[in-house]
Formats: sequence, structure tokens, C-alpha cells
Amino acid sequence: MKVEDIYRKSTEYFPVEKLTSKDLLPVYNKLSEIGYNEKNILEKLQVDYITFAKRHEIPKYLATTLKKNTPTDQLIKLFLLSLSVPESDVRETLGKEVFEIMLDMGLLSKTGEKAINSPINIFPCRGCLIVTDSSFVNVCVPKHVYPLMNDSYNLAHSIIMEPCEKTLDLCTGSGVQAIVASKFSKKVIGVDVNPRALNFARFNALLNQADNVEFRKGDLYEAVKGEKFDRILSNPPFVPSPEKRVYFRDGGPSGEDILKRIVAGLKDHLNEGSMCQIVTLLVFTGSDYNEKVASWVSGDNHHIFSIHAPRINVEDHIIYHLCAIRVCLLNNIAIKSSIGWSHIIKRV
Ligand SMILES: C[S@@+](CC[C@H](N)C(=O)[O-])C[C@H]1O[C@@H](n2cnc3c(N)ncnc32)[C@H](O)[C@@H]1O
Repeated sequence: MKVEDIYRKSTEYFPVEKLTSKDLLPVYNKLSEIGYNEKNILEKLQVDYITFAKRHEIPKYLATTLKKNTPTDQLIKLFLLSLSVPESDVRETLGKEVFEIMLDMGLLSKTGEKAINSPINIFPCRGCLIVTDSSFVNVCVPKHVYPLMNDSYNLAHSIIMEPCEKTLDLCTGSGVQAIVASKFSKKVIGVDVNPRALNFARFNALLNQADNVEFRKGDLYEAVKGEKFDRILSNPPFVPSPEKRVYFRDGGPSGEDILKRIVAGLKDHLNEGSMCQIVTLLVFTGSDYNEKVASWVSGDNHHIFSIHAPRINVEDHIIYHLCAIRVCLLNNIAIKSSIGWSHIIKRV
């Protein structure tokens, strides 16, 4: 599928204004009934994380665990591996009503050869179904809606599900954390700067019958001025970057610019005795991580608990994200872009 087809309806991909959660209930119910859930997918793909499914391993999956082409196999092929499936199979698996709704919504697309594929991904996560842009297209497109990656799953699975009144999800993207939070929090607000992400997030709230979630456009706390919360969640962009171009990736020159502003704003937006949960990567500067984060919260009464994963080599981390430059080449901005990136690499 061509990238331009995927971004055809750039910011209003889903007609969310015209939809209600009732319209999408048959889709949620059908996918759940077929067993399109985290447990079944992990078993089928024999991975520890759904995001460990790799493009180069597709031939192996097709020859082994997905060989029987069961209804679950078909959904994995369509919505995780971005593969085509014969139209007759998909129609039979989904039934006429759900097939038509999914085609109409752009969740499915006809490829011409009596086959069906999907321009998007659907990730099951903590009982929710989250629609994002495809993880198999090159991710250098500025408005790409962040697919669920390990960081998304790590935060979603570590959210403490204790009942509370009001939760804020900063950098909400697909809305995954906000929608998971809607199960224990009476009211949830998700904030993002990317209008395409907000459109997907609103669609996801409808799909998951999460009627207590509201999504707002804005730069972090700007969208919730004067409001306080019992829980703040965030998975902010963290890649050190000389440019502000790819919404989900660029974390400013230090990689910590957005994170720092989130931490600094906690004292004005958290109710007393409440909690913030963030998943991110910090740049290791030789000092204690807790000290560094504490220095961003001025004169506040707080406790910081951090769990450290193994340290990643910074050069590898940046070079991994530099794969994005492949697409910059097509856009004729490779030189400008790579000069900026090379400054960052030299610095680290
Ligand atoms: C790494 S993605 C996380 C998406 C989702 N929360 C998840 O866990 O999968 C980061 C998100 O932050 C958003 N973002 C970047 N800068 C922002 C800002 N200043 N204010 C609000 N959102 C921002 C991006 O558009 C992107 O959707």
C-alpha cells in the first residue's frame, strides 16, 4: 500500500463527529469474540511482547503458527502484520455487518485482486482495542499516529488501577493510556498536539465504549489550565532531536525537553496525595536519575520512585531513530536534517 493512500485523509481519518459508541459496538464485540486479544496473539507469534512481531519473521509465522488461517490468524495478518487476506475469508470471519462497517471506516481496504488489507494497525491492550497508524510504514511522517510500542505497553500494564475521580493523559497519541484509565477513573482527559492522533484517539474511545474520556488539542498543560487531577499519566517523546518535525519522536535537543516540562508542571496539576506515572528514557549524565528528576520539581513535597531498565548505549539509541532519514532523502531535506542529527551524535 502506498504511503499517500494511508495519509489520504490526513487529520480527519475517521468521521468521529457523526459516530456514536453504539455504531462501533458490533466491531468491538466481533473482534473480541474471535479472540483477538493479547494472550492469543502472544501465543500465536511466540513472542513476549506484541511489538516483537517483526516484518522479516513473517514467512516463519505464515509457515508455522498462522498456517491454519483461523479467524484469529486472519485478524493478526490484517491488523498487526499488514498482510492481505482473501476477501471471501474476511467476509466470512467478520460477518456482513462488521465487514461493511470496517470497510466504510477505512479499517479495511480492498486491494483489487479479491483481497483485503488494512491501512492501519489494531493493538489489543488491557482489554481495549487501539487503532493506530501502521507500524510497518516508515515512521518519519510528521503526523504518524504512534503505534503501540514497548513503552506504550509498559505504561499501560503498569498503570495502578485504583478508582479515582479525574485522570490526565499527557501526550495521549492513540489515546491508549487514557482509554485504559477510563476503566478506573470517573473522568479522563487526554491531550496531544497532533490533530491526526486526536482523531484516532476519539475514534478509539468510541470503539471501546469509553464515554468518560475527553480529548483536547494543546501543548501539555496548556489544554488543562487551572485543573487538578488524581492521576497523571504520560509517555512523552524522548528522542534527542535537532528538529521538531515528527510529533511522537522529537523530544528537543536533550531528548528530555518535554519530560522536564511535564515534571515541572506536576505541582500545579496534581491533587495532594496523588500520583504521576511516566514511561520514558532518560539521558544518563553520570548523576543519579532521581536527583536529576527532583531538580526539575522546585521546592515541592514529593516522592520520586524510579525503576531502571538496563542502560542503552546512547549512540545506538539515536542511530536506531536515524533510520527515519531514509524518508527525508525522498523529501529532499536529507542534508539539512542529517547535519542537525550529526551535531547531536557528536555531542553524545
Ligand atoms: C511516544 S507517543 C505516545 C503515545 C501514547 N501515549 C502511547 O503511550 O503509545 C508521544 C505523543 O506525544 C505527543 N506530543 C508531542 N509533543 C507534545 C506536546 N508538547 N504536548 C502534547 N502532546 C505532545 C505526540 O503527538 C505523540 O502522540
